[in-house]
Amino acid sequence: MELLALLFLSFCFLTLSGRMFAVESGTPVARVTVREDDDVILPCSLDTNENIESMLFDWVKEVPRKEVFMYRNRSHYNNGLPGQDVEFKGRVSHYPEELKYGNASIRLKQTRLEDNGTYTCIFPDIKPSEKIFRIELVVGAAPKPYVTILKEKGLLQCEVPGASPKPTVEWWDSDNKTLPTKTVQDEEQQGRFHVTVQTTVTEPGCYHCVAKQLEKWHRISSEICVHHGLPVWAGILIGVIVCFIVGGVVGFVLKVKGYSLKKDSQGMENGPSSELQTNLTSEHP
Ligand SMILES: *[C@@H]1O[C@H](CO)[C@@H](O)[C@H](O)[C@H]1NC(C)=O
Ligand SMILES: *[C@@H]1O[C@H](CO)[C@@H](O)[C@H](O)[C@H]1NC(C)=O
Ligand SMILES: *[C@@H]1O[C@H](CO)[C@@H](O)[C@H](O)[C@H]1NC(C)=O
Ligand SMILES: *[C@@H]1O[C@H](CO)[C@@H](O)[C@H](O)[C@H]1NC(C)=O
Repeated sequence: MELLALLFLSFCFLTLSGRMFAVESGTPVARVTVREDDDVILPCSLDTNENIESMLFDWVKEVPRKEVFMYRNRSHYNNGLPGQDVEFKGRVSHYPEELKYGNASIRLKQTRLEDNGTYTCIFPDIKPSEKIFRIELVVGAAPKPYVTILKEKGLLQCEVPGASPKPTVEWWDSDNKTLPTKTVQDEEQQGRFHVTVQTTVTEPGCYHCVAKQLEKWHRISSEICVHHGLPVWAGILIGVIVCFIVGGVVGFVLKVKGYSLKKDSQGMENGPSSELQTNLTSEHP
């Protein structure tokens, strides 16, 4: 179950990271989604494809404003140009070979949750007016639902710690119907969200805790099964007792059977065979 969830998760990230939703006019231009710790390319290209090797472009993160990457006529933050924000030191690179084609994309290494936000790529010297591209970077931490049975009465708890963006957490029954839940924890710490919800179930069966992010972006679920409202230890205890009873009965039966078999075989040797003999003799005198 855990492994499946992880596979699903990696699949989601692989298919979604780097995917853009371009909007022709106005801003924002693109949204890029990435899992924390992964690298990401922030795209920015002039549609004229003109050579920008001797031009100026600047990447800035908005609110609060931070200098991410500046390039000016072959000088840039990675070869001596000063002014880069410490947060981005050593983590940003550009594509020198792509500059000829008007491509000012940058690569951001080992993304952190703090990198989440809106970035602008600015060409201040382009005629007739400066060009600005906006890119929304969403850095996510996947939800991992932990499910437990709290009481014999069937109180199920689902705990989803440290996810970002904030997940919605639901309990589903075996028909995938949403159950009424009570949120017992809903906190944010440094951009990570901790959500815990509980539900009470009356019927035995298997239930899913489903954690979703950004609607379709992410969906991870964990399953838990309730057997007649009994907790696991009770199930084990009952199993052990049943084993003893069955074992005892089987042992007893075998013992009795073994005894009677012995008795039967003795009977076969003496009683019936002599009767048969007498019958046979009486038929054929
Ligand atoms: C770029 O730098 C070169 C020298 O390295 C200089 O000759 C050229 O004028 C500069 N171009 C611009 C647009 O500043
Ligand atoms: C710009 O360069 C990056 C990095 O090589 C690449 O992924 C992207 O597709 C390029 N963009 C365009 C419009 O060619
Ligand atoms: C991440 O950035 C996006 C785009 O700027 C923003 O919509 C979203 O609220 C941010 N999420 C968090 C958890 O800060
Ligand atoms: C519940 O949803 C899962 C996947 O989301 C699906 O595989 C399963 O068949 C659904 N079950 C029912 C009873 O609809």
